[in-house]
Amino acid sequence: MKALRVHQYGGIDAIKHEEVPTPEPGAGEARVKIEAAGVNYIDVYQRTGLYQLKLPFTLGMEGAGTVDAIGPGVTEIKKGDRVAYSMVPGAFAEYAIVPAARLVPLPPKIDSKSAAATMLQGMTAHYLTHSTYPLKRGDGALVHAAAGGVGLLLVQVAKRLGATVYGTVSTEEKARLAREAGADEVILYTQKDFVAEIKRLTNGRGVNVVYDSVGQTTFEKGLDCLRPRGYMALFGQSSGPVPPFNLGMLAAKGSLFVTRPTLAHYAIEREELLGRAKDLFGWIAAGELKLRIDKVFPMAQAAEAYRLLEGRKTTGKVLLTP
Ligand SMILES: NC(=O)c1ccc[n+]([C@@H]2O[C@H](COP(=O)([O-])OP(=O)(O)OC[C@H]3O[C@@H](n4cnc5c(N)ncnc54)[C@H](OP(=O)(O)O)[C@@H]3O)[C@@H](O)[C@H]2O)c1
Repeated sequence: MKALRVHQYGGIDAIKHEEVPTPEPGAGEARVKIEAAGVNYIDVYQRTGLYQLKLPFTLGMEGAGTVDAIGPGVTEIKKGDRVAYSMVPGAFAEYAIVPAARLVPLPPKIDSKSAAATMLQGMTAHYLTHSTYPLKRGDGALVHAAAGGVGLLLVQVAKRLGATVYGTVSTEEKARLAREAGADEVILYTQKDFVAEIKRLTNGRGVNVVYDSVGQTTFEKGLDCLRPRGYMALFGQSSGPVPPFNLGMLAAKGSLFVTRPTLAHYAIEREELLGRAKDLFGWIAAGELKLRIDKVFPMAQAAEAYRLLEGRKTTGKVLLTP
């Protein structure tokens, strides 16, 4: 089968489209015939070595398709089931081996592309707003990169929980999309100081929570957007990692909380995984959560997908098909 592999950490040219043996499922595992796979920023961290996987490895942390074989002892799903999953490497291939406990059966109304656009970024929007800092009606939330893959979903889910949502984006076109997703106010952080804007828009009070996936360029300033005892949920680093910082700053800036969550720890139990997926697929089927699939590329053209993603040229989801 064909797969997108990385043999040495590096730039986009480290991605190799090559022939590898079709894998066999072991105990507790299933083989999924991939129909659509999601492109995510975590792929960039893995390819460059910021997050280190054992080399060589097959890229792709999110996929959807049909179970085509199961190993011994699998009880969660059966051959022929339509499924999706995330946070297991190897989705950028014709077939992927996935622990059966990580697979979510798909409702009939959810096609493979929608599923592959939900399992990582949608689940992230869900856990951040429901578990990391559970939003209450009337809370103020600042969402950076609000027109991104996670961003557009996070804005929508935060709105359905009754928050006032402030989004930051780099362009007018992205501002339009963030507003369409429901953001109450959108700040072009490439043109305006977002701290001053948040202070102005909240009458100096600040927000309850900052959901920050941008990292290096936004983290410290984000602390200044919080009201006393506010929450900084730093969940990514699209602009680069946040350097070590002095914990005393949290006291000085208002007895703040900082957390650095990852989806892996917010869907450990199968019950939690299925519960979040049930919510998301239910909202999508009811037309209450809109997926924006920006681009779909064949896997052979993955390089172009990453040029756009890393060049801040994408809005919403980018998918690959085998
Ligand atoms: N912890 C978790 O559980 C978890 C799960 C999913 C994703 N994430 C993180 O969430 C972030 C977003 O992921 P995504 O896949 O949805 O990507 P994305 O948000 O669609 O793309 C990244 C966006 O970040 C913004 N950005 C700001 N400075 C940037 C820079 N120097 N270089 C590149 N982009 C920059 C850009 O939006 P503007 O042009 O509007 O600035 C860009 O479009 C990533 O950091 C990812 O690792 C974390």
